[in-house]
Formats: sequence, C-alpha cells, structure tokens
Amino acid sequence: MDFGLKNKIAVVAAASRGLGRAAARQLALEGATVVICARRKKEINRTACEIQEETGSVVVSVRADVTKPKDVRELVSQARRRFGTVHVLVVNAGGPPAGEMLALTDKDWQKAHELTLMSMVRLTRAVLPMMVRQEWGRIITINSIVAKQPVNELLLSAAIRPGIGGLVKVLANQYAKYNITINTVCPGHIRTQRQEELARFRAEARRISIERYFAETAAAIPAGRLGRPEEIGSVVAFLASEQAAYINGVNLLVDGSAAKGVH
Ligand SMILES: NC(=O)c1ccc[n+]([C@@H]2O[C@H](COP(=O)([O-])OP(=O)(O)OC[C@H]3O[C@@H](n4cnc5c(N)ncnc54)[C@H](OP(=O)(O)O)[C@@H]3O)[C@@H](O)[C@H]2O)c1
Repeated sequence: MDFGLKNKIAVVAAASRGLGRAAARQLALEGATVVICARRKKEINRTACEIQEETGSVVVSVRADVTKPKDVRELVSQARRRFGTVHVLVVNAGGPPAGEMLALTDKDWQKAHELTLMSMVRLTRAVLPMMVRQEWGRIITINSIVAKQPVNELLLSAAIRPGIGGLVKVLANQYAKYNITINTVCPGHIRTQRQEELARFRAEARRISIERYFAETAAAIPAGRLGRPEEIGSVVAFLASEQAAYINGVNLLVDGSAAKGVH
C-alpha cells in the first residue's frame, strides 16, 4: 500500500534511538523527507546518516532539546527554511523518571510538565499554522499505556499523560476541518533503552535479576512478549498516511493487549 508520504515533510522529535528513531525510519521508508532531533549531536547525526543510507530518503538532523522553547522554534524553522513546510509532526521526548510521591520535588514535577506536556504544546503550536495554510497535516504524539492505566511508580507520567489524551481530542475537534488529524500512540512495553532503564529500577526494587523481570513482564502480556520499536514506527506511519484521514482524536494503544479493561 502506498501511504502517500512521498512528497511529505516530517519532523520527528527525540529520535536518535528508541521509538522516535523507529518512527523516523518508517516515515523515511515511506519516502518522506524527515527532520529529526535529540539533545546529543553526535548520536542524532549518526542516526540521520544511518536512516538516510538505509532508506534513500533525505534525513536531516538538528540538535534540539524539546524542553527548551528556543530549540523547538529552531527545529521547526530549520524544517521550514530547508523544505518550505511541515506536513507531519511526531511529538516525542524522553520519559519522566520513576519515583515515589514523597521523594519527588516541585522541581521534578515542573521538569516532567515541561518534558511531557509543554514540549507537545510548543511543537504543535509551531507547526499548526503551516498545516492550516496547506489544509493538510498529521500530528502524532508518542504517549503511553500509562495514559490509560496508571502504573504506581510512574507517578509523573500517570499525572500528565492522560491530559495529553484530552488535549489531542480537543485539537482534533478544532482542526479536523482543515484536514488535520491529531492522534496519540500509547505504547505498552516496547524494548528500548528507556524500557531497559525502567526494568533495572524495578528489578532492583524487587531484588530480582533483570532477566527474570523481563521474563515476568513478557508472561503478563497476552501477546507473550514485549513489543519491538518498529511496531510503533509502523503505526505512526499509518496514522500519518492518506489512508488514516478519518482517524482523529484517538489515543491508540499498541501494547499486545497488556492494558486491562475496555479502552
Ligand atoms: N519504550 C516503552 O516501552 C515506552 C512505553 C510507553 C511510553 N514510552 C514513552 O515513549 C517515549 C520514548 O521512549 P523510548 O523508549 O524510545 O525512550 P529512549 O530509548 O530513552 O529514547 C529517548 C530518545 O529521546 C531523546 N530525548 C530525550 N529527552 C529529550 C529532550 N529533552 N529533547 C530532545 N530529545 C530528547 C533521546 O536522545 P538524547 O538523550 O540525545 O536527547 C533519545 O533519542 C518516552 O516518553 C517514553 O516514556 C515508552
């Protein structure tokens, strides 16, 4: 199936590895020109080269921290200066740290708010005028299963991620008339560096080995395994496609049925 992304310009935030990288790679495989960012210059440059070499699509790297308003503006301006516009935005960032209520400080809460919510607000605000003008746009935010089913030690995530789901629905209502769709993908347990770090934290807390933690996690997921980053990348590419034009305001679980309940 041709996803209709060949002449499209995509910006993918936080994409030197993990889910952002997988989304950027899949969009590039579909023929989109992709602008990616992360905080570490060497890593994001290397990832851009790797994806460009593999896919043959143009991939541009920008060093940017999505918690910094100036960096967000510069990321989107670079895409606009070089390619004229942005058609697809993938909002992503590192996850907020795990922690207990009595250990988390105001600063931790403010940092998580900037990282998870305000990065989405600022990136979206920067691209929406272009999308409205061209009457075409796709915004896909990498959210989390935690938006649907809180996890005790991911307090910061549990407090902020459901709000992103609410914001996405309101924006979808307001911008659908411009042929813009705004959705989130809510990954379950996907094997990335972030997942390895969480696994270490949880395994240590329970005094079990990391291998045992992963075996138990896989056994608790109906699919019987953790997900692969490319399984998120392909959902992002589909949501960015022409074919997904009528999917709007959705918070889509991609979790091997890990979340309990009807969502
Ligand atoms: N993996 C999962 O199972 C899972 C499940 C649910 C939700 N999520 C969420 O999905 C998101 C991505 O997770 P992941 O597993 O792909 O994480 P990851 O493997 O740790 O990768 C994070 C990526 O984001 C970049 N990044 C981090 N902070 C940034 C910032 N402030 N500005 C710009 N780039 C930044 C990192 O590069 P630099 O360090 O160089 O900036 C890296 O490229 C997180 O919000 C996570 O909570 C993941």
